[in-house]
Amino acid sequence: MKRRLTYGMVGGGPGSFIGDAHRRSIALDGKAEIVAGSFSRTYEKSLETGRDLRIAEDRIYSDYKTMAEAEAAREDGIDFVVIVTPNSSHYEIGRTFLEHGIHVACDKPVTTTSAEAIELHELAKEKGLLFLVTYVYSGHVTAMHAREMIEAGEIGEIRVVQGEYPQGWLADADVSDNKQASWRIDPELSGRTNALGDIGTHIENSVYRMTGLHITEVLARMEKKVEGRALDDNSTVLVTYDNGASGTYWASQVARGHDNGLRIRIYGEKGSIFWFQEEPEKLRYTLSDGYVREIHRGHDCIDPAASCYGRLPSGHTEGWFEAMGNLYVDFIDAIIAKEEGTFSADMLKFPTTLDGIYGLTFVEACLESSENGNKWVKLPTIQE
Ligand SMILES: NC(=O)c1ccc[n+]([C@@H]2O[C@H](COP(=O)([O-])OP(=O)(O)OC[C@H]3O[C@@H](n4cnc5c(N)ncnc54)[C@H](O)[C@@H]3O)[C@@H](O)[C@H]2O)c1
Repeated sequence: MKRRLTYGMVGGGPGSFIGDAHRRSIALDGKAEIVAGSFSRTYEKSLETGRDLRIAEDRIYSDYKTMAEAEAAREDGIDFVVIVTPNSSHYEIGRTFLEHGIHVACDKPVTTTSAEAIELHELAKEKGLLFLVTYVYSGHVTAMHAREMIEAGEIGEIRVVQGEYPQGWLADADVSDNKQASWRIDPELSGRTNALGDIGTHIENSVYRMTGLHITEVLARMEKKVEGRALDDNSTVLVTYDNGASGTYWASQVARGHDNGLRIRIYGEKGSIFWFQEEPEKLRYTLSDGYVREIHRGHDCIDPAASCYGRLPSGHTEGWFEAMGNLYVDFIDAIIAKEEGTFSADMLKFPTTLDGIYGLTFVEACLESSENGNKWVKLPTIQE
């Protein structure tokens, strides 16, 4: 039986959103246990969360630097850290734990600039450490099946991609009573973009994970629909891919009536695939015969490389937690393989700092385009 890993968390304190969701997702498979944390910048709040999680008091830390040092010095120190703080702090926290020899999982965006993401990528490589960036949607079984179909050539060469992520939660001018909203609209904490960075990158990564296509150029219009807002809340991007295909992405937080309406439509020479995150148990596709087929997770028609991630029989709904859990399963298995000397590059099935770099170069090119009269901007080629 494999060793059960231990992990610590930075962020995820009282009233926060995603930290608790990560903890529940990791707990699904029992492969790792939380034993340390600095859950808030306020020590009392950190203690409150740590005690709720039954963490020993000497492993509830006042700040992440103390935590990295203390955990690295312990013989039974954490195997990995999970970073779930606002965007602008990811780089410093990630770098600190890598420097202390600890594997990192971090929510997206991995940093707020591509230069910082490249630095983390290089540092992780130099230290021989793993770095998971939790683009959660790539963990859905049906999204993985779409990838397998495309790789097998079932829909032929891709010609057109349509991606949208409409939300309505920032449609009102006053969002001051919402903890998750207040930092997202603040450039100090969010970086130079809001809607495009927060949810546009989910479109970008979902398309990349399904198709393997790289974006070569973009033309973006990043709008502030709510008066007085410093960052974009409605962004539209035209993209060109390295195989010549074209795409359109729309990320909006002012689209009333939508919650997390991520929809990816991929049109190839021989067929098309439609994947909607709010219905992640199903995948629709059409081939040249014109029939629209719908396949469901849990049936034999799902490719084994994807179906192996399912936990329940068909019709017993799996969703966001399971998708996030799937990323952690691969990440934890890879850490164990590193420890046992059996690691190989094909175990990097999960999104890493490379995905983070692609996301940030996309965002930066969109900013350059939008701020300069919506011109076409080329993306740099990334050295893997
Ligand atoms: N993958 C996804 O689908 C998804 C969804 C939501 C959020 N996110 C990402 O997760 C991150 C957190 O978002 P959220 O909505 O949970 O934010 P949040 O505001 O709800 O929570 C942030 C938490 O971090 C704590 N914190 C801030 N700075 C800290 C520090 N230096 N040390 C320790 N704790 C600190 C805060 O006290 C709070 O508990 C963001 O990067 C966001 O983009 C990803």
